[in-house]
Amino acid sequence: MTPSMMGRLVSVCLAAVVAAAGAAAAVDVTAVVKERQATMKQQAKDMGAIKAFLDGKGDQATAQTAATGLTQTTAKIPDLFPPGSDKPSPSGEFAPKAAIWTDWNKFLDAQKAAHSKAEALLAAVKGGDKAAIQTAFADLGKNGCGNCHTNFRQKLKP
Ligand code: HEC
Repeated sequence: MTPSMMGRLVSVCLAAVVAAAGAAAAVDVTAVVKERQATMKQQAKDMGAIKAFLDGKGDQATAQTAATGLTQTTAKIPDLFPPGSDKPSPSGEFAPKAAIWTDWNKFLDAQKAAHSKAEALLAAVKGGDKAAIQTAFADLGKNGCGNCHTNFRQKLKP
């Protein structure tokens, strides 16, 4: 093979890789935006199940399942915000702020903080002491979910 043939072969391969990556990203955005709204809503539901237990309206087993869910969903948040997914959620109510991608490490810090607070909440729910659960619940809500929303979420509709 001559060097020029080699060069052409390499550029054909590169073009194929770039095209494949572009196609994958284009397909992913709609799905990922939908999945992240569903995941965020699931997190709100799980927080609600723990609140219900604190208020004497739900049982501990359900609260524990919800807290376990929160440790899993908070862990996968980075996968729900791939580059190029800067789009409003399907309901059009919320959108991610561009700062997620310009300040990715800060976003990851907010995600990691929420994840460790979810772990602490799960431990508290397993322990069953309502005062401890209340503290961990408020900490996750305000300094986990709330902190990330303040910095990285915008509300589009009132
Ligand atoms: C690391 C950042 C981050 C963390 C942590 C986080 N969120 Fe979010 N959340 C976002 C962003 C960004 C949006 C806007 C995108 C969207 O709505 O899909 C959002 C949207 C939402 C929405 C609105 C969904 C919609 O579009 O209808 C709810 C509800 C929500 N989050 C609940 C929670 C709860 C509950 C927690 C904590 C257990 C949490 N989130 C933790 C970043 C975060």
